Amino acid sequence: MNPLKSARARPGETCTVSFDGRPLPALPGQTVAAALWAAGVTAWRSTRGTGEPRGVFCGIGVCFDCLVTVNGRPNQRACLVPVRPGDVIRTQEGTGHGDD
Ligand code: FES
Repeated sequence: MNPLKSARARPGETCTVSFDGRPLPALPGQTVAAALWAAGVTAWRSTRGTGEPRGVFCGIGVCFDCLVTVNGRPNQRACLVPVRPGDVIRTQEGTGHGDD
C-alpha cells in the first residue's frame, strides 16, 4: 500500500457497542481495547482469586491480560478482536465461566 494513502485515511462512520450495559461509540477497524480506551475505560477484567483489575498490558496478543467477554464469549483478547456494530462487551470476572 502507498504510505500516503494511509496518511490521508479518514475513519468511517462510528457504530455503537455496549460495555457493561453502557453504549459506547466505536470506529470501524478499532479493536475492542481501542474502543474501550477511547471511552476512558482502562480495566475490563478482574483476576481469579484476588480480583485485581486488568486491561491492556502488551497490546499485541501475547500476554492475555486483556481478556474480556464479547457477545457472551469469554476470554477474547481485547487488543486483537475488532469491534463490530452492536457488540455486547462485558467485564470478565476471573475465568469468565462463573466458576470463581
Ligand atoms: S494486552 Fe496482551 S494479549 Fe492483549
